[in-house]
Amino acid sequence: MSSKKHLQLAYGLAIVLLVVGVGSYAYTALTATVLDEPVRIQFKSVAGKVLYSHKMHTAETGYGFACYDCHHHPEDDETSLRACGDCHQGPLEEGVVLESCLECHDSDEVEDTEITKMGDAFHSKCIQCHQEAEAGPEECSQCHVL
Ligand code: HEC
Ligand code: HEC
Ligand code: HEC
Ligand code: HEC
Ligand code: HEC
Repeated sequence: MSSKKHLQLAYGLAIVLLVVGVGSYAYTALTATVLDEPVRIQFKSVAGKVLYSHKMHTAETGYGFACYDCHHHPEDDETSLRACGDCHQGPLEEGVVLESCLECHDSDEVEDTEITKMGDAFHSKCIQCHQEAEAGPEECSQCHVL
């Protein structure tokens, strides 16, 4: 083989590897964000532990809710699913901006935002839906069981 052929082969191989590499990276990123849905989450709190069956709330054979019914911010970006607790850490001291907001916003867009603390965000979101659905626990002791 001439050295020119060698070089072409090497380039060709490099390109193939690059494409495969980028492809599998994108694939991992997608599955990691979209499919790594927790099955169950246990929350600890001073009022007692809460067992939340995440999968049951989303599965077609369960209650069948869409991701963005709960993961509301931003509204419809499937690469942006993250824990509620990454954002709901309020009340914040004046001038403090959360790192998690700065991934997508400039600090001046978010510095005056009041951010609800996680317990309050859960109480309003979880209980409101259970009331509307006329199913699911509404009483303290039905959720804080342990
Ligand atoms: C009924 C409400 C609800 C629905 C619907 C929902 N989630 Fe969640 N999800 C939660 C709650 C609550 C948490 C726990 C957040 C925390 O611990 O801060 C969570 C956590 C997660 C986490 C873990 C985040 C982390 O970093 O720990 C992932 C991933 C996730 N959800 C993906 C999904 C996907 C994918 C869907 C759609 C198939 C979905 N969720 C639908 C309420 C919901
Ligand atoms: C993954 C990217 C992302 C993160 C992280 C994020 N935002 Fe946003 N935000 C958006 C996008 C996109 C919009 C445009 C409207 C939408 O989709 O909700 C927006 C809109 C807003 C708005 C104006 C519109 C509205 O809904 O009232 C405010 C205020 C805001 N974000 C505050 C925050 C705060 C505070 C945090 C951190 C606790 C945060 N955002 C974290 C992407 C993000
Ligand atoms: C990327 C940041 C971000 C994530 C993640 C996030 N939120 Fe929010 N959420 C906000 C912002 C910003 C607001 C508007 C400011 C506020 O009211 O706290 C908000 C408001 C709310 C409110 C209205 C608060 C009130 O009492 O008026 C509820 C309820 C809520 N979020 C529930 C959730 C739940 C449940 C999850 C997880 C499934 C979640 N949020 C994940 C940023 C986020
Ligand atoms: C978008 C609506 C919606 C939201 C938000 C929601 N739920 Fe539910 N939940 C339901 C429905 C519907 C049921 C079904 C009850 C039935 O069919 O018996 C349910 C059932 C439950 C049950 C009892 C059965 C089981 O699956 O264990 C628990 C516990 C529960 N939810 C906890 C929570 C918690 C904690 C949150 C907030 C982090 C939450 N839910 C948010 C709609 C919702
Ligand atoms: C639908 C389920 C549900 C119901 C009903 C519920 N809680 Fe909770 N609660 C939770 C979850 C989930 C958390 C975990 C939040 C966290 O990890 O910060 C929590 C956290 C708490 C906390 C600690 C965080 C905070 O906000 O201070 C207290 C206290 C609390 N709940 C008291 C109550 C009381 C009192 C009632 C009845 C009036 C009640 N809860 C009803 C699900 C529920």
